[in-house]
Amino acid sequence: MKSVLCVVAFSTLAVSSVIQQSPESRKPLVSSAALEHDITSKNLFKRAKQLYKIAELGVEEYGHPTRVIGSKGHVGTVDYVQNTLSKLAHYYDVSNQTFEAVTGNILNSSLTLGDDLLPASAMSLTPPTKDKAPVNGPLVLVANLGCDESDYPANTTGSIALISRGECPFGQKSANAGKAGALAAVVYNNIAGNLSGTLGQPEANHVATFGITLEEAQPYITDLKAGKDIPASAYIDAIVKVVATTNVMAQTRGGDQDNCVMLGGHSDSVTEGPGINDDGSGTIALLEIAVHLAKYKVNNCVRFAWWAAEEEGLLGSDYYVSQLSEEENLKIRLFMDYDMLASPNFAYQVYNATNAVNPVGSEELRDLYTDYYTAHGQNFTYIEFNGRSDYDAFIVAGIPAGGIATGAEGVKTEDEVALFGGTAGDWYDPCYHQLCDDLTNLAIDAWEFNSKLIAHSVATYAISFDGFPKRIKTPGVKRNKLRQSNYLYHGPDLVM
Ligand SMILES: *[C@@H]1O[C@H](CO)[C@@H](O)[C@H](O)[C@H]1NC(C)=O
Ligand SMILES: *[C@@H]1O[C@H](CO)[C@@H](O)[C@H](O)[C@H]1NC(C)=O
Ligand SMILES: *[C@@H]1O[C@H](CO)[C@@H](O)[C@H](O)[C@H]1NC(C)=O
Ligand SMILES: *[C@@H]1O[C@H](CO)[C@@H](O)[C@H](O)[C@H]1NC(C)=O
Ligand SMILES: *[C@@H]1O[C@H](CO)[C@@H](O)[C@H](O)[C@H]1NC(C)=O
Ligand SMILES: *[C@@H]1O[C@H](CO)[C@@H](O)[C@H](O)[C@H]1NC(C)=O
Repeated sequence: MKSVLCVVAFSTLAVSSVIQQSPESRKPLVSSAALEHDITSKNLFKRAKQLYKIAELGVEEYGHPTRVIGSKGHVGTVDYVQNTLSKLAHYYDVSNQTFEAVTGNILNSSLTLGDDLLPASAMSLTPPTKDKAPVNGPLVLVANLGCDESDYPANTTGSIALISRGECPFGQKSANAGKAGALAAVVYNNIAGNLSGTLGQPEANHVATFGITLEEAQPYITDLKAGKDIPASAYIDAIVKVVATTNVMAQTRGGDQDNCVMLGGHSDSVTEGPGINDDGSGTIALLEIAVHLAKYKVNNCVRFAWWAAEEEGLLGSDYYVSQLSEEENLKIRLFMDYDMLASPNFAYQVYNATNAVNPVGSEELRDLYTDYYTAHGQNFTYIEFNGRSDYDAFIVAGIPAGGIATGAEGVKTEDEVALFGGTAGDWYDPCYHQLCDDLTNLAIDAWEFNSKLIAHSVATYAISFDGFPKRIKTPGVKRNKLRQSNYLYHGPDLVM
């Protein structure tokens, strides 16, 4: 405040020279009110339009806009974040981290056994059939569970192998089938229900692999056992590749470098669409706040992160946390996760991150969010803090964390319509992980409101950690049975 008054007393020339030097000490201390005021839906939406244009760089390879890792849309997003921040190099130390991740995309598939076209699902991370064209061969029944190479009869060569689910990963069955010379593999379920799984880390021997139900497989198994010939045709058009992808971090040069508030969103989308809500909304909110924060002084360091490969299983945040030394880990006082802030059929959701089962401080953060909603006359709901986004690596490493969201594929209830409006029975984000997650898929007012709340969270901790629990060396939250659901979201879901 004092420095602003001083500057006003100078001539215009003096003012501009003072601003050019922009010595941090002369900037006003950040405040929630000021930083919130800087956030406008107009500026957020302007950036959303830029991000959509960047997603369109993915059209050439993917046939539609996408910012999936490895696409030009994602490289463009990472560049956009870094270029925006590079103009603030006096204020931020901008860094990045490149790591390898697997990405896959199934473009088309079909499976015909005998005369029947089956509703088979191609497994995630499956390679395509040869030349991305249909392959034809007899259906051959593999012995036992197909986990041993000896389970594959000699006539597997040139065939389509039919294998039971069980005991070993789908990837191992697929590789064994490939080694035995199969053109493709079909894994049938060993329990009731559809079988959609993933082959996991690509291997040279993997062949195009489908999943079918036990019920669908049964008649063919019976016929094969009776010695009948069943001609089969398999077709998968897919991309599977290992790509280098990049996390971006920016840390204020000012503020106590040993006590940082950290926040992150993910820069990537799924293959299927441009990801403007998921997580363009978080990516942009963080960028907009980072740009405006640079006008102010901070007492504590603020560290922003834009994670890559969240959609492949939280890989970017996992990698980042895995690279922290104990000393660096302890400098992070808390981590705030901002993923999906503008779902069209939104609820204001706060992660129920309690101190009872999370690193101490998580609950203080949770209460900062709920206090804000309450103070502004808004309703909120608690949602499970179950490891579904990039905060998980932090709490496992002993760092308090939390965040807000507006809902993904969950269904809005009548009760929630009373709290937030919208449509009961519909998903919070009807375009979740789809092509239509575009510029029309944003609840602009909710986005602006939540972005102001993020500004408040940043300002609060940038000013002071008074009353916020100190970091102590703790083992963090174990990924044990109690938090089993965490496993679901790290890497592929169904692997065997
Ligand atoms: C990482 O940062 C360096 C230094 O700013 C830059 O030269 C490089 O292009 C960045 N890497 C990526 C993949 O963006
Ligand atoms: C998928 O493949 C079938 C042939 O099996 C073809 O008729 C259809 O046009 C393809 N669909 C797309 C979207 O490429
Ligand atoms: C493949 O070989 C197995 C036993 O070695 C035999 O039972 C089966 O009928 C053969 N299948 C075909 C399609 O030739
Ligand atoms: C199983 O797959 C079929 C066809 O692909 C689909 O119609 C059905 O909804 C699926 N069932 C479940 C429980 O996902
Ligand atoms: C929040 O989590 C705690 C356990 O940590 C649980 O006791 C409580 O019921 C949860 N609250 C809601 C509203 O889900
Ligand atoms: C909050 O929920 C109550 C119903 O419980 C509703 O009457 C009120 O309008 C809601 N407030 C807002 C801001 O939507």
